[in-house]
This record gives sequence, structure tokens and C-alpha cells, in this order.
Amino acid sequence: MGRMQDKVVLISGAARGIGAQIATRMASEGAFVFVSDILDDQAAEVAAKITADGGKAESLLLDVTRELSWQVAVDRVLNIAGKLDVLVNNAGMVLAQDFEAVSLEDWQTMVDVNMTSVFLGSKVCAPALKQAGHNSIGGSSIINISSVAGLVAAPNDPLYAMTKGGVTLFTKSTAITFANKGEPIRVNSIHPGFIDTQMGEQVMVAQAKRLGVDDANEMRALAKQRHPLGRLGKTSDIANAALYLASDEAAFITGSSLVVDGGLTAQ
Ligand code: NAI
Repeated sequence: MGRMQDKVVLISGAARGIGAQIATRMASEGAFVFVSDILDDQAAEVAAKITADGGKAESLLLDVTRELSWQVAVDRVLNIAGKLDVLVNNAGMVLAQDFEAVSLEDWQTMVDVNMTSVFLGSKVCAPALKQAGHNSIGGSSIINISSVAGLVAAPNDPLYAMTKGGVTLFTKSTAITFANKGEPIRVNSIHPGFIDTQMGEQVMVAQAKRLGVDDANEMRALAKQRHPLGRLGKTSDIANAALYLASDEAAFITGSSLVVDGGLTAQ
């Protein structure tokens, strides 16, 4: 039996990168995964691949910045699967700019995608998660994808750090809120180091530009050097952490910040 047998999971921003890998990994352990994104064609491709490999998946159009979009998505999950056990708030973005160069409009976009999304997802999914949690050994689970930038300074992108720091403390606060009310929803955050995705590439390019490095290989070598384990993170590193937190193996874990960064922030 898989580690996520019979669990129903909704993942935001799952058309590519970390979210797509979380969906694939959880489905490989028996979960029914809802692959959601604003990129609905790509989300459908991810779901089709999971299904072709023998897993259970559906794709959904979900704009995490809009409450109505969340409501429609959750209704669809409940109509198709009958319950919701796990929410992964993964969708996110970076500006990768000096904060003095950022417009108010761009800041507000990032706040919506990185923070409002986590508020809305947690709020709209809470009723279904509470119900499912009462029927599960480990309770239901919300996993918020924060960042190392939600734990320590990010001098190259202070605004991103502000949004991810918010996610870190919203995680701990909602974990205790649910626990105090006796509601069976565990809430935890994951803090990835540099992960090899489109976003990881965007951050590396911005840093290289600032450092005056124009060779792609040199840029990657510099990024690797920052991680004591000597490599960039893989999407599977984050997916394995999410799998653990979502499963009943993590039944006594709530309000925690799971750092998956090859030692980057331990120094
Ligand atoms: P990515 O850029 O490859 O994927 C992000 C996904 O979010 C995309 O599919 C995008 O369409 C989706 N998205 C953006 N706005 C959306 C919206 N309004 N509604 C729904 N979906 C939306 O990024 P990656 O690397 O997979 O990042 C996933 C999460 O991990 C993000 O929260 C990011 O901040 C976090 N993270 C990533 C790190 C990295 O080095 N790649 C490091 C630390 C944290």
C-alpha cells in the first residue's frame, strides 16, 4: 500500500517545477492529485502523464490570487473525489530585483501570488480539510512552500524574503490556531534552497548579472558552491519532504519549518 493511499491532494502552481514533481511523487504513493495552475494546458499535460503512468490525477484551472477561483476549484475537487485531505500551497513568484527598483504594482502582484494565495487557500479549503481530518489517523495537512528566504536574509531580493517570511509565520500561527480549536489540520512549511527550476534559473541569472558573471556554467558553479552539499536542489528533494509531511508518518508534526537546502542556512 502506498504512503498516500486514498488521500486526495490539491496542489497549486503544479503545471511545472516543484509543484509538478510533488503531484507526481504523491500520485506514485497512491494519492488522487489535483494538478492546478493558471497554465491550464501545462497542468493538463502533467495530469495526463501521471494518469498514463498508472496514477490518479485531474487538472484544474486555479488562479491563487482570486477567492472565487479557489471556491470553484475546491467544489470541483469535492464533486469528483468527495473529500480533500491535503493542500499544498506551492504557487509562487520572484521579482529578482533590487527593492529600490521595484514598482508598487509589481510588489502588489508578488504579495498576491506569494501571500494572499496562502491565506485564500487555507481559508477556502479549511472546511473540507477539517472534515477529512476527523477520518484520518494523521489528520489532514496544509503544506506551505516558503523558502530559505523565509528564514534568513535575502539581500538580493528583500521583497521576496518579506513575502516568504510572512508565509513562515502564517504557517506556525495557523498550526496553533487549528490545534487550539481541536481541529485536525496540521500545517507545516518547507524551505527550499536553490532548486533547479524555471524560477531557480531566473534567480541565478539575476544574481549573475549583479556579480558581472556572464558564463552560464560559472553561474551554476557559484550557486552550487553556496550549498555545503555541493549541488543545487532537485524538485524531487522538495517532493520527498512534502510527501512525508502530507502522510500519516508526520502525524505529530505541526507548525514546523522543514529546511531542504543542502546545508545553505546551517552555516
Ligand atoms: P516555477 O516558476 O517553476 O513554478 C511556479 C508555478 O506557479 C508556475 O507553474 C506558475 O504558473 C504558477 N503560478 C504563478 N502564479 C500563479 C497564480 N496566480 N495562480 C496559480 N498558479 C500560479 O517555480 P518553482 O521553482 O517550481 O517554485 C515553486 C515554489 O517554490 C514557489 O512558491 C517558490 O517561491 C518556492 N521556492 C522555489 C525555489 C527555487 O529555487 N526554485 C527556492 C525556494 C522556494
